[in-house]
Amino acid sequence: MLVTGKEILQHADDHQYAVGAFNVNNMEIIQAIAEAADELRAPVILQASQGAIKYAGVEYITALVKTTAELIDVPIALHLDHGTDFEEIIKCIRNGFTSVMIDASKHELEENIRLTKEIVRIAHSVGVSVEAELGKIGGTEDQVVVSEAEATYTDPEEAKVFAEETGVDSLAIAVGTAHGVYKGEPKVDIERIKQIDSVVKVPLVLHGSSGVPYDTLENAVGAGIRKINIDTDIRASFAGAVKSFVSENPDEIDPRKILKPARQRMADTVKEKIKVFGSDGKAWK
Ligand code: 13P
Repeated sequence: MLVTGKEILQHADDHQYAVGAFNVNNMEIIQAIAEAADELRAPVILQASQGAIKYAGVEYITALVKTTAELIDVPIALHLDHGTDFEEIIKCIRNGFTSVMIDASKHELEENIRLTKEIVRIAHSVGVSVEAELGKIGGTEDQVVVSEAEATYTDPEEAKVFAEETGVDSLAIAVGTAHGVYKGEPKVDIERIKQIDSVVKVPLVLHGSSGVPYDTLENAVGAGIRKINIDTDIRASFAGAVKSFVSENPDEIDPRKILKPARQRMADTVKEKIKVFGSDGKAWK
């Protein structure tokens, strides 16, 4: 069942858990997430970055996710991750995405508000939900690169003004996580999440959540995070499984045999995350 981002996050907010938002690039990743969500009866967000859309094509991504939503009986939202390009965002809306992210976080507050408001106006007119970002989350997520020096935490008062003025449905905040592989252990500012949650009415989103210790993620959910983005850990599961299969079976040329263990390893990774986020058993339809 395909639902909007707003509906899926509203349920998480009402029942105090976080929905896993997993990045997708091809059929095997989508099938792995589907297996995990179906088995654990968990609502999930399947999200594609602009880079994923460039790689696979918006039509393939949309068709694969729509098929998944017909095949398995859990709520699924199809979301654009880090939309920085106006035309790309509109393309996703036109193709049937139920949620889009406008990432104008590199701009000053006023410009971020102006660009976000414009996308909210368009997306809401056709029933599509919008996530925006305030503060600058460090690291690299496809085309979005933020150096350690550029990364800045989200200010709670600014977040309140931003959410109210833009009318967004969810807000990505910068609280110490970063996209990609961590060098040391990430320090997540749980107090800041609580402060932001106490003044911002819409659900909060944690990016860069791969490699974050599970007790920290549980504390983040306790503090008010309702959407948790995972990309790098799925990539690592995929690459790890393919590499070990190929090194053990150097003469194998059948893509199905090479990709099957990778699909299984990704499904296991997603299942582990879903349990940590508390979204298992939460599918309401
Ligand atoms: P990771 O790659 O750290 O999992 O972050 C994913 C993300 O936040 C996508 O927007």
